Amino acid sequence: MSFLPLVYALLFYFAASILLAGLTWKILQYARTPAPLKIPTTPAPIGPSGVALRMLREVVFFESLFKGNKWIWIFGWVFHFGLFLVTLRHLRYFIDPVWLPIELIQPFGIYGGMAMVAGLVGLWARRFLVDRVRYITGPSDHLILALLVLIGLSGLGMTFVVHVDVISVKHFFRGLMSFNLAPLPADPLLLVHLLLVATLMIVFPFSKLLHAPGLFFSPTRNQADNPREKRHLAPWAKQLEQQ
Ligand code: HEM
Repeated sequence: MSFLPLVYALLFYFAASILLAGLTWKILQYARTPAPLKIPTTPAPIGPSGVALRMLREVVFFESLFKGNKWIWIFGWVFHFGLFLVTLRHLRYFIDPVWLPIELIQPFGIYGGMAMVAGLVGLWARRFLVDRVRYITGPSDHLILALLVLIGLSGLGMTFVVHVDVISVKHFFRGLMSFNLAPLPADPLLLVHLLLVATLMIVFPFSKLLHAPGLFFSPTRNQADNPREKRHLAPWAKQLEQQ
């Protein structure tokens, strides 16, 4: 076996470890961060089921972004929904047999890829065209957008221009999941796609992409509006009271 599959296997094990350890670390950190004040953005739900529904609307429809800025909302939502379809379509590389819903979603996954790139282009354009946004845009904002656009374009390049042997790609990744090394096709576009994906996995826990898990820890969204019914007491305040 040539040395290319070995390099990519090691790269993906390394990237997966960083992603898993980094995400666990950040999520624990978010979970342990005190939320000393009662600050749900009102009008807010008054009980746990209402909060769950509010979070669901936030996750699926980006409700508060919709209220805040229609341009970011449309591009952001198109990008994320496209990414969601792409992720579902990619599941075929990791599961065997492929579940029926995943088989049925395959063509929509391709539209998802196009939507994903279109949304990203809109979000990126805003960072050049809107003065206030350009002023607060740093190199990392451009780099993350570039990374995602290049992953999308290299993927679409394989779908429409230079086809790759997706069965072999599947064997390679199923092999990694059971710690077996299988051959990997040496198509340049595939190697670029995978290299960028591994880079994304590595930078994820250090980047603004952490807004995905972070959303669930946002007190303005996950708190119920019940300050009179239930007294909100931060652990440190409880300790002070007991002294
Ligand atoms: C280890 C993970 C991944 C593997 C093995 C992989 C592999 C592939 C392959 C083989 C294709 C070509 C499909 C075809 O010719 O029909 C493709 C397409 C694509 N990939 Fe990936 N990819 C991975 C992760 C990702 C990620 C994380 C993203 C997005 C952030 C992404 C975005 C795309 C897009 C937009 C396409 C074009 C649409 C499609 O055919 O699905 N890929 N990928």
